[in-house]
Amino acid sequence: MPEAQHVNHNVGLWFVDPEAVDLPALLHANGGVLSPDELARGDRFRAPVHRRDHLITRLLVRTVLSQRLSLAAHTLRFGTNAHGRPYLLAQPDLSFNVSHTDGLIVLAIAQAGEVGVDVERLQTDRATWRLAEYCFAADELAALRRVAPDRFDETFFSYWTLKEAYLKARGTGLSTALDSFSFDLDDTHRIGFSAPAGADRDHATHFWLLRPFPMHLCALCVRLCPQPPSLNAWNIALPDTAGAALNPAVLRQSIAY
Ligand SMILES: CC(C)(COP(=O)(O)OP(=O)(O)OC[C@H]1O[C@@H](n2cnc3c(N)ncnc32)[C@H](O)[C@@H]1OP(=O)(O)O)[C@@H](O)C(=O)NCCC(=O)NCCS
Repeated sequence: MPEAQHVNHNVGLWFVDPEAVDLPALLHANGGVLSPDELARGDRFRAPVHRRDHLITRLLVRTVLSQRLSLAAHTLRFGTNAHGRPYLLAQPDLSFNVSHTDGLIVLAIAQAGEVGVDVERLQTDRATWRLAEYCFAADELAALRRVAPDRFDETFFSYWTLKEAYLKARGTGLSTALDSFSFDLDDTHRIGFSAPAGADRDHATHFWLLRPFPMHLCALCVRLCPQPPSLNAWNIALPDTAGAALNPAVLRQSIAY
């Protein structure tokens, strides 16, 4: 067997609580780091909280990637694929992905393969049957009907975040039909997965469902990675990126498909 198959690849997760960030101080400490486009996009958000989260996300991505690549943060240039997935112009193969929700921002970077991440706050008012019927596949809806009412919200967001993380790892966004692939969460700890018909071989696709904080779910997908990667997570308080190592509760994990 080639040696590369034994390499235990790693995926890193950096979590930031935007409420804990002093944005004016962060921007001051990072003067000149954000591009004019990034700053202009921030100014287009009406809600201050969305502007804040946008700016923190941009600085999180630039700071961690610049440390990873030993390059100055302001020199990084980004492009997007046809579906909006950002990538580094100088290193298009370095796979990273971000997600933001009410009270949490996360950056994922994979050493190998393609990574997608999604965080959601467990908000009861968003977990509705109407939305489920719009987004979920028939077998997911059937499984959701079987769960006890007090498990509905968490189960809804488990399917939701896993579907988002997979779409984001593929980089195709909502151009991939949401009912063309599905997850099986009947087993208590496992994640079963049926890939879209005709999709590339997904035997090297790995999923995790994490509960990094009591009010937030996080799904992670790494595709095209021959071995299940190991996870490392940090809870950081920008501008400091060293942060505290985080051991997010692993609610479920896939076997390799
Ligand atoms: C854009 C989309 C990829 C994710 O959107 P989202 O869940 O609302 O937002 P998140 O915060 O999790 O992710 C947004 C980030 O994903 C990244 N992104 C955008 N398009 C992407 C794509 N095609 N592939 C991967 N990542 C993408 C961007 O970095 C973006 O953050 P940024 O604008 O600050 O750079 C897409 O799936 C979408 O529009 N979803 C809408 C919600 C929906 O209907 N979901 C169905 C779930 S069952």
